[in-house]
Amino acid sequence: MDRNLRDRALLGLIHGRRSVRHFDNGPVKRQAITRILEAGRLAPSGSNRQPWRYIVVEDPALKQAIRTECERIEARFHQRAPAELASWMNAHGITAQKPFLEEAPYLIVAYYRRREPYAVPSIWVSIAFMLLQVEQEGLGTLTYTPVGARLNTLLCVPASFQLTAILPIGVPADYRHQDRLALSEIANANRFGEPFDEGGGPDGISSVERAEQTQCPQN
Ligand SMILES: Cc1cc2nc3c(=O)[nH]c(=O)nc-3n(C[C@H](O)[C@H](O)[C@H](O)COP(=O)(O)O)c2cc1C
Repeated sequence: MDRNLRDRALLGLIHGRRSVRHFDNGPVKRQAITRILEAGRLAPSGSNRQPWRYIVVEDPALKQAIRTECERIEARFHQRAPAELASWMNAHGITAQKPFLEEAPYLIVAYYRRREPYAVPSIWVSIAFMLLQVEQEGLGTLTYTPVGARLNTLLCVPASFQLTAILPIGVPADYRHQDRLALSEIANANRFGEPFDEGGGPDGISSVERAEQTQCPQN
């Protein structure tokens, strides 16, 4: 596949991805989980320290225990959530109940090693790579961040590692489309507030490039 087509295929994948909070009991091949982990393994990291460690949980009793602990902290979180966030969560059907932690055949529990340089941004790049591979596999997941959940003892993880996220992985049962800001709202050219020219003209070049071309007597 030529590079242009490959890039477009990647963007198509990115367009198609959604957070999935309900899974049906369709099968998930173990090799798919291996490839998802492989995508995370190959991510770039600060000083190439690769601070991430992943635990694949498929044992139903462990998944149930993870759900119990997460729902414990979620109950507190939902009680104390600021009004605006509470109403957003309400509108999106997000409650303190986390059935996806048992519905999904696999959970990838993501930890990073504390005190590594750039550990937090690094693990998030690795997680992002995995999100894309989940989509490539035709599966669904959610970036679930149970802040304050205590899972280290349950999963025998040393205290030097910090829980970051749980990715439940399975066959999507339903999902919702979330809007995004337009490119014109997030992209600036050279300075904040200057619109970025998307190069949408017939030749696909930007107005800056065009101006340079017309200024240059050789063109
Ligand atoms: C860093 C991060 C943390 C998130 N934490 C949660 C979470 O704890 N619970 C949840 O239901 N969704 C969580 N999400 C999912 C977002 O709500 C979701 O990505 C966003 O609403 C956009 O929807 P989409 O993923 O379907 O495009 C998180 C996403 C990110 C990137």
